[in-house]
Amino acid sequence: MWLRTLILLTLAISAFGQAMLNRNGERIVDTVREISQPIQDACSNSKADIVLIIDGSRSIHPSDFIEQIKFLKRFVDHFIIGNNGMRFGVVTFGDKVIMDNTFGLTQYTSNVELKDRLSSIDYRPRDGTSTQTGLAIKYARETLFTEARLDTKKIAFVITDGNSRNATETAEEAMKMRNEEIVILAIGVGKDVSEEELHTITGRNDYVFMIDEYSLLKELESKLSEISCKHKNEGCSEDVDINFVFDPSRMSYNETRTVTTFITESIADGKFSGKNVRIGTIPGKCQGLKGFYLDTYQSKYTARKHFNNLQRASIASLLEESLKEYFTCPYGGRKEARKVAVIFLKGKLIDQDRLKKNVQSLRKSGIEVFGIKMENLDSEMTLTRIFGRRNILDATKIKSMEEVRHELVNRICKW
Ligand SMILES: *[C@@H]1O[C@H](CO)[C@@H](O)[C@H](O)[C@H]1NC(C)=O
Ligand SMILES: *[C@@H]1O[C@H](CO)[C@@H](O)[C@H](O)[C@H]1NC(C)=O
Repeated sequence: MWLRTLILLTLAISAFGQAMLNRNGERIVDTVREISQPIQDACSNSKADIVLIIDGSRSIHPSDFIEQIKFLKRFVDHFIIGNNGMRFGVVTFGDKVIMDNTFGLTQYTSNVELKDRLSSIDYRPRDGTSTQTGLAIKYARETLFTEARLDTKKIAFVITDGNSRNATETAEEAMKMRNEEIVILAIGVGKDVSEEELHTITGRNDYVFMIDEYSLLKELESKLSEISCKHKNEGCSEDVDINFVFDPSRMSYNETRTVTTFITESIADGKFSGKNVRIGTIPGKCQGLKGFYLDTYQSKYTARKHFNNLQRASIASLLEESLKEYFTCPYGGRKEARKVAVIFLKGKLIDQDRLKKNVQSLRKSGIEVFGIKMENLDSEMTLTRIFGRRNILDATKIKSMEEVRHELVNRICKW
């Protein structure tokens, strides 16, 4: 144990230290530049299966490409590579998966071998005329992750500028990956990073990193440690801002009470008891309940249309752009906090496409969206399509709202 701690300590120090070179340019010693915090050994036996999905498309500048490989070599040295520790696989892609720069989780079983292999990944502008991020994510899920060990955390790092050829496909493939309990972290490289796309890939704002940030290595290290070491029920250790969204105009008095009790109980939840979690609510503004004047409609058909529009007015409209505002500073939102919206779904979703679009737009701005199905008449498939399997809770299948609440807290806090 001591030896292992010592090795890790040395590795960590050398990664942050500055290499001293002799006249031939060979590294002779690492000097310590800065150790601002003691190295914790809580994660010295980290175990995870990690796939690095590397963008080699032409939109990445060659020097940024080299920078990211260097970064990855330093990064993997923070862990002990092997069958009982961390395992890494790589998918490199441009307009397709570049097979000879791609390898599986089981291939390299020591730090030296893995770093050598990473060094040999070269820049291929000819294979990189477009950025098929979705294809690469799909390939990683279907091919590399099938070799993952049982009961081992699965993590994908998507390293890209975020400007994929087909943003819809990328978002969908990323959601499929997350649905298989694979955590995705996205690292933005280059000058023209589309942070929006990185948000749709990770599904949450605090898993998006920029490679030019000085503190990145350290942040990633702690995030990874957290992901691979945190026990399931430790609760939320990070800052989370949660807004609950519901529409009383679609609910009976009792149902509204059920929802408001759900929210007040959430505030009191033991796992949320720290000062890190803030909770807000966005009830419907009854904007759809407007009547009409005597001379508005001349036939029962157009009048019926008005009432149909009332039905439509509910949830999809609550999720319009304005919802993002409720996560901003004037409304008590914190810039660095995770952002979570929880939506109570009641009745039939008439305007599914609009809802889906609005949910996607929230994700783009880094807001995680969960749906709670209450006497909702839509099929599971429809709701999964909009929210993703991990992010939908079916209250009609769970015994009590109390249990639904526990499940929600668990899913929010799990990683
Ligand atoms: C993008 O991907 C989606 C889903 O895979 C597909 O339906 C669509 O045709 C693609 N669009 C383009 C322009 O290739
Ligand atoms: C509403 O709740 C009260 C008390 O829990 C119950 O007695 C009543 O039957 C409920 N009403 C409906 C319409 O479900």
